[in-house]
This record gives sequence, C-alpha cells and structure tokens, in this order.
Amino acid sequence: MSTIRGPRVTIYPDAHAAARDVARRMANALQDNPAVVFGLATGRTPVALYAELARLTTTRHLDWSGATTFNLDEFVGVGPDDPGSYRRFMQEHLFRHTNLEPGRINFLVGTADPDEECRRYERAIAQAGGLDMQILGIGTNGHIGFNEPAPGLESRTHRVKLTIETRRSNADLFGGKLDRVPTEALSMGMATILQARSLILLAHGKSKAQCIAELINGPVTTALPATFLQLHPHVDLILDTAAASALRA
Ligand code: GLP
Repeated sequence: MSTIRGPRVTIYPDAHAAARDVARRMANALQDNPAVVFGLATGRTPVALYAELARLTTTRHLDWSGATTFNLDEFVGVGPDDPGSYRRFMQEHLFRHTNLEPGRINFLVGTADPDEECRRYERAIAQAGGLDMQILGIGTNGHIGFNEPAPGLESRTHRVKLTIETRRSNADLFGGKLDRVPTEALSMGMATILQARSLILLAHGKSKAQCIAELINGPVTTALPATFLQLHPHVDLILDTAAASALRA
C-alpha cells in the first residue's frame, strides 16, 4: 500500500543553513549524475544558495561541464546582457563561478518573438530529456516562476502580465525604479515545472509564511499557484523558522 504525502518539509534556524542544505543537494545531484538537468530560479532567496554552490564548486571540485540548466523566467523586452535581466543575475551569482558550457545554459530570451520563444523553450527542455531537479522560490502572492495568481493558469511556457506586487519586489534589479520594471515576462508554466522529476522550494522570512502554510494545507487553487506543488510526488520545502511560522504544529 502506498501513502499519499504532501511536500516534505525541512526547517532550519536561519536562511543560510537552509541555503546550505539546498546547495548540498544540488552538489550531490551533480556528482551522482554529471549530466544532470537543473531548473534554476532567481530572486533574493537563492543568492545565498548560489554563493554556497560557488564555494562547494571549489571545495568539492564540482565539474559542471556535462550539466545543463534551464532558468524559470525572464522579463519581456530585456536582453540577456541587460543589467536588469535574470540572465545577468545568474551569470553574476552562479554561472561565472562554474565551468558550465555556455551552450548548455538555457534561458528564455526576453527580446525574442515571445510566442516562438516559448515554444522553442518547451522543445529545448524536452530535447534535454526534461528537468531532473527544479529549484524554486515563492512570491509573496504565491507565484511560482512568474505564474501569477489568476482565474486560470497557462500550463506551458508562456507570456505573462506581472502584478504590481511582483514588479515592486523586482525593482531592485532596475535601480529601485518601479516604472523601469517590465510589465510582462516569459515563464515556464506550472505543467512544465511539475514535469520536473524533483522540486526543491527554498523560502525564508515572515513574508512567505502565509503562502507556505497554504501551499501545504490549503486547497489547490490558481489563486495561489504554489498550491499546485501538492500534486507532485517529490517536493522538498526547505524553510527557515520565519517562513515556517504559520504551519500547524
Ligand atoms: C521573482 C521570480 C520568482 C521568485 C520570486 C521570489 O518574481 N520570478 O521565481 O521565486 O520572485 O523572489 P524573492 O526570492 O526575492 O522573494
């Protein structure tokens, strides 16, 4: 008999300990399978994770040359070299610290034709054999990637209109100026994300606590896209105590 269980929850006293755990899991996955396909996330949350991964790359002599990466999302109208782009963020925080092959780094291109670009990305993920391990953050409104709360969700990689809350939380990338934050983005869809063989969501801070509680205990609803993670059999939530503070004991 098999039991249905929800996401596995691990709680650490602080955000750095949580980030170190996820970095270790990624390093182990890379060492177990040098051809691993990672799905990667941006935002403030994974900064400590990537710093730790960069450190482990040196101390554990990690060889990234056979690995492939796909990032979740990118802003529409923002080119890969733009300082506000997620591509630049990843270059700065992770890619430049590794020996990842540039040809194995996959990114949605914000300046390409959006519809064609979304189709290209889905094909590229399929051609790579799918995502082995997808790293996720969570928006304060429960978004995953850029899958914003909505009456309906598009399941595959698509163009999305960003909420004002999400634009505000991304303003740092654009000199703190809200009017410079693009109004649209390209994002993997929830079905694309849920097809990854395993998912790891990293969250810290009180602002994430309510969404985390609903992700675990709430009904699955497009009003809080993170609740769709309940449908996946291999999800790990790695939290600090503040992000876990609304969970029932
Ligand atoms: C952005 C990203 C998400 C990320 C979220 C949380 O909007 N598109 O993938 O999870 O923000 O960001 P932070 O970690 O800064 O709270």
